Parts: sequence; structure tokens; C-alpha cells
Amino acid sequence: MSSLLVDNIGELVTNGAGEGPLGIRRNAAVLVEEGLVVWVGPSAYAPAADRRLDAGGAAVLPGFVDSHAHLVFAGDRAAEFAARMAGQPYTGGGIRTTVGATRAATDNELRATVRRLRGEALRQGTTTMEIKSGYGLTVADEARSLRIAAESSTETTFLGAHVVPAEYADRPDDYVSLVCGPMLAAATPYAKWVDVFCERGAFDVDHARAILACGQAAGLGVRIHANQLGPGAGVRLGVELDAASVDHCTHLSDADVDALAGTAHGDGSGTRTVATLLPGAEFSTRSPYPDARRLLDAGVTVALATDCNPGSSYTSSMSFCVALAVREMRMTPAEAVWAATAGGARALRRDDIGVLTPGARADLVVLDAPSYLHLAYRPGVPLIRQVMRNGVTP
Ligand code: NIG
Ligand code: FE
Repeated sequence: MSSLLVDNIGELVTNGAGEGPLGIRRNAAVLVEEGLVVWVGPSAYAPAADRRLDAGGAAVLPGFVDSHAHLVFAGDRAAEFAARMAGQPYTGGGIRTTVGATRAATDNELRATVRRLRGEALRQGTTTMEIKSGYGLTVADEARSLRIAAESSTETTFLGAHVVPAEYADRPDDYVSLVCGPMLAAATPYAKWVDVFCERGAFDVDHARAILACGQAAGLGVRIHANQLGPGAGVRLGVELDAASVDHCTHLSDADVDALAGTAHGDGSGTRTVATLLPGAEFSTRSPYPDARRLLDAGVTVALATDCNPGSSYTSSMSFCVALAVREMRMTPAEAVWAATAGGARALRRDDIGVLTPGARADLVVLDAPSYLHLAYRPGVPLIRQVMRNGVTP
């Protein structure tokens, strides 16, 4: 069994025991065996290992956990972005443009896009990335989207209910039946989660409940796009169905925040349903940012994710989302880094990632900086010096 010691770590973010909310340890080392962290402690007392990686006094963090991304698509919508920057509002109407391009693409074209974006994210420190379908919206196109997504991630999400496709525009009930019936059956072998875009112009709360309940009955975990473009019952529906995460949360009422806070574990470890905030979407749609402070102050567990997609947020950079969360959403740098690592893990109901403690996967990043603070302090700068996934440099 070959072992690897990452030592000479100036600042180690463990998200476990240690200093402050990030469980920081200074002058630390991490011993990795068989892809797992087996020991964390002072560099000076580190056990011997077959190989050594000298972090040179830099900061080491758990790899980013991006719990919300739409990578299976064709084409882009750069012109739509330009129009928005000139004053056009975002409505989600452009989703149908991407659906047309995605249906027309070959499997290999879709595969190449997924691999390109997954690789782009990995180089920027994302060691786990959830991938949704949702630009196929036929039985065959949703199934192939998920089959291709599953080649790059175990965290795959069936989003057949992204919008009602044009051919069902005047009979949305029939589309919901298709999603709950043959489409779900074709998606289930490749999907771990079910998601719905619950929003005016997409699916109302009754349709969303029906689809999520069918997915849940088929063994999928629940997540939901909710309260992105306006207020609504999506967040409360997520809580009702024990969703792992309610995503966007841009327009929340007191009742929404109370419902999320009501899912608290009761032992001070946060909430069972996580609020996943996607500031790349507010950036790219020039919209007001969600009120992260209100959620955090109510005790709600918050995750940050990219929402990487060709319409509302074409970024794969978790560092960028951390910087936005700090500058625009009044999260502290520590809260933002926790949300982008341990928070993402919680949003995927995983306890083996997002932390660097014995037993966790050896998914980590070495920064080109002495502290995690630099992720927000030096926005736009490529600070990821080295990435390790399952103990291996990919
Ligand atoms: O999460 N809100 C719905 N879906 C995506 C946007 C998809 C698109 O515009 O293509 C989102 O923002
Ligand atoms: Fe999304």
C-alpha cells in the first residue's frame, strides 16, 4: 500500500476540528493512503510515507464541491448575455434555444463539452461536480444526457422538468406525465437526484410536487430550483419533500427562511435542507444577490455553487463564486470557503468530501497563497497550484 505525505502546509483548512469555523491547523501535514486521508497533524510529527509532497508553506483546502451545474448542452448564448448587459432582463426563455442545439448535437459533441467543462473546473480546484440533464427534454435526449453526465460524475441529476418544451407548450399536463412516466424510467439508471425548475414560466408548485414525488418514489434524492426569479412556494416544497438542497433562494419570505431553519438537526450542525446560493447567476443576469446573511443568521446551512450553464451563469469557477459571496453577499471569507467545500458536500448529503479529516477522501487543493483568505482577496487570479482527487494528481 503506497502512502503519500502532504507536508509543510502553512494553513490547513480541515472543516473539522481546529481553529475557527474552518478547523484550521497551522504547520500541518496530511497522510494519504488508498485515496483517503488517514492522519492529520503537525508537520513536525508526521509519520513516514513512501512519497512526499511539499506544500512549501502554502494553504491547503478540501477540493471545492460544486453541487449545481448544467454541463450537458450544445452551443452557447453569448449574444443573449450581451443583450442582458445592454438592459434585457433574464427570463429563462433562452433555455429553449439551448434545447434545440442540444437535441441536434451528436453524443460525442455533448461528451466533449462535458469533458471540457469538467476539466476546466477540476483545474480550478473542483474535485466533485454535480451534473444535471435538462436540455434534452425528450425521453431519448434526457437519457443520453444523463448517460454522458454519468461518465464524468456520480452526482447526476435528472432535470427533465427544466422547462416545458415547445411541442408541449399548450399541454403542460401531458409533459408532466411524460416526465413522471417514460422519461423518469429512462433516466433513473443514470441519475442519483431529481430536480425541477419551479418558477413562473417553468413549472408551478403542483407540477413540481408531482414530478419530485415520482422521482423520490423511484429512489432519487430531491433537489429543486426555487425562488430564483421571484417569490414562490418552491423553497417550502423542497422542505416538505426533505430536499437535500433548495437552489437559488434569491427571493425569500420570512416563511421560507423559517421553513429552512425548521429542518435543523438540533445538535448545532445546521439544517438538513441546505440553501445553495448561485451568485454567478445573479452576476450574469445582473440581478440582486440572495441575502446570505439572513439565511446564516437564521441557522440555515448555506452552500455555494456555480450553476455553470450557457444561459444564466457560464462560469466553472468556484473561486469566483467565493469572491462574489464575500464582496456582494456579505459572507465572511470563512463562511464562503466553508459553503464552497463542506456546504456543497452537505447539499449532496455526503460526509466523505468537503473535509480533510481521517476517513475523508483525499480531495484537496494546494493554493498559490498562504491563506484561504486570498481566494476572495485576489479575485480572478488563478490561485490553484495543485489539485488532488482520491489521493492522485489528475
Ligand atoms: O439554474 N434556472 C434554470 N436553469 C438555469 C438556467 C438555464 C439557462 O438559462 O439555460 C439556472 O439558472
Ligand atoms: Fe441551475
